[in-house]
Amino acid sequence: MSVVMVGAECAPWSKTGGLGDVMQALPKALAARGHRLMVVAPLYKRYPEAVDTGVRLRLQVCGSETEVGFWHAQLDGVDYTFLDHPAFSHWADQIYGGSRQDVLYRCALLSKAALEAPRLLPGGEAGALGEGCLFVANDFHAALVPVYLQAHYRDHGQMLYARSLLVVHNLAHQGRGPPEELGMLDLPDDYYKLFSLRDAHSGSWMMNVLKAGAIASHRIVAVSNQYAQEVQTAEHGFGLDDTLRRQAWKLTGKPFLTAAPGLGAQLCTGVVNGIDTAEWSPAADVHLGSDGYRRYDAASLDAGKAACKAALQRELGLPVDPDAPLLGFIGRLDPQKGVDLIADNYEWLMEQGAQLVLLGSGREDLEAALREMEARAPRQCRAWVGFSVKLAHRMTAGVDLLLMPSRFEPCGLNQLYAMAYGTVPVVHAVGGLADTVQPFNPYEGTGTGWTFTGADPAAFRQALAFALQTYREHRDSFRDIQLRGMSQDLSWGAAAQQYEAVLLAAKYQW
Ligand code: GLC
Repeated sequence: MSVVMVGAECAPWSKTGGLGDVMQALPKALAARGHRLMVVAPLYKRYPEAVDTGVRLRLQVCGSETEVGFWHAQLDGVDYTFLDHPAFSHWADQIYGGSRQDVLYRCALLSKAALEAPRLLPGGEAGALGEGCLFVANDFHAALVPVYLQAHYRDHGQMLYARSLLVVHNLAHQGRGPPEELGMLDLPDDYYKLFSLRDAHSGSWMMNVLKAGAIASHRIVAVSNQYAQEVQTAEHGFGLDDTLRRQAWKLTGKPFLTAAPGLGAQLCTGVVNGIDTAEWSPAADVHLGSDGYRRYDAASLDAGKAACKAALQRELGLPVDPDAPLLGFIGRLDPQKGVDLIADNYEWLMEQGAQLVLLGSGREDLEAALREMEARAPRQCRAWVGFSVKLAHRMTAGVDLLLMPSRFEPCGLNQLYAMAYGTVPVVHAVGGLADTVQPFNPYEGTGTGWTFTGADPAAFRQALAFALQTYREHRDSFRDIQLRGMSQDLSWGAAAQQYEAVLLAAKYQW
């Protein structure tokens, strides 16, 4: 199959979160399975691997004509196409920054250029790819791809064999705006209704880019099974639950089984992200192997983790104490991630003699909360406000427990990284966290971590208490949990195979 992945970020060139990782790893994994892969993403700055193809395209974007350039790199069997335009380079340091109109302009530009890219560029094979390819639009930034594909091509008898897939990584961001902004999108009037959504709070009509993308796409993928269900509920649907319930048959990956009413919801499945094992493997991690950190695998787990824990305590200026439970948090500082639930349990954790290491940046009040936790117990708590790939790797190796009390978590990658490193996750059982962390059952000797239900400090504390007790008093059980986590296959192989099945379903869908 010929697949074009479109998204606003793509690691290692641009990344603010898990979306960037998926844009990097999934195309590689699909290419390794023998498919033609092109990635289309903005050129925020000059990337050493990318060269200017010299191809320029004039496009009508948000009512005015503009020119976009195409840069290209070929790596791991994937053709990367980077879009060169001042609207992208201007926002290099804040890729989702600017006014709502600025963001909408970039969404429209990305989507329009992406639809042309396979017809114009190396890897596109003179139009063949464009005609029959499968566009994979990631999140609302690319959600105009399915809409423009239909309105500007298929309605005019072009690209009749092309199909589109919308991948929902995070429903909290939808590209909402006042209805007047619809006029910016260069669409025929009868397309406007796809965008209209009544705001639950104000009761007024709004326009919504993700809604239109969900309706216009041929299939929709949520990044975990549980999330595929959650997006259809009022609690996690962020106002799009009704739309997604109506489109539920697209979420199943099983095109012919969903005709019976009511069956759709039960069959909804997502595709849980994998991890890039070249980046995230304790035996080969480039950020271990120096400064006292050691690489390890299941056979050398105890010695390896002990070395990494001591190195982390030393690097962060905490007392080097092998017996103090070392707890970590890594994540964007956003209410989504539930860092306030850690703050609520902070006193208690300190009384338990735990050490706590927090890494993240984001909302100012949450950054301040992190700094305050450190200031209150500098010998037990370290807050690193900012983003450091190296420290994220070293923490994943060095801490005993990784805390993820997210209010919602479409997939979550850090719990997967943790388990691969023999670090035990303590998670709120939502979305991908519920799908990937099996609660420890001491009677049956099963489970890979601890889970709790309800984003509530007391429920979280109970899970933490159980984890600390097991760590301190039942080391063999704790070790078994670590080893079960490490023995799982968390690579992209299985996920890529599932994407392949969904893409195939889309390809043969009318
Ligand atoms: C978003 C979600 C996260 C998911 C990632 C990649 O960042 O919040 O849960 O893992 O996308 O799909």
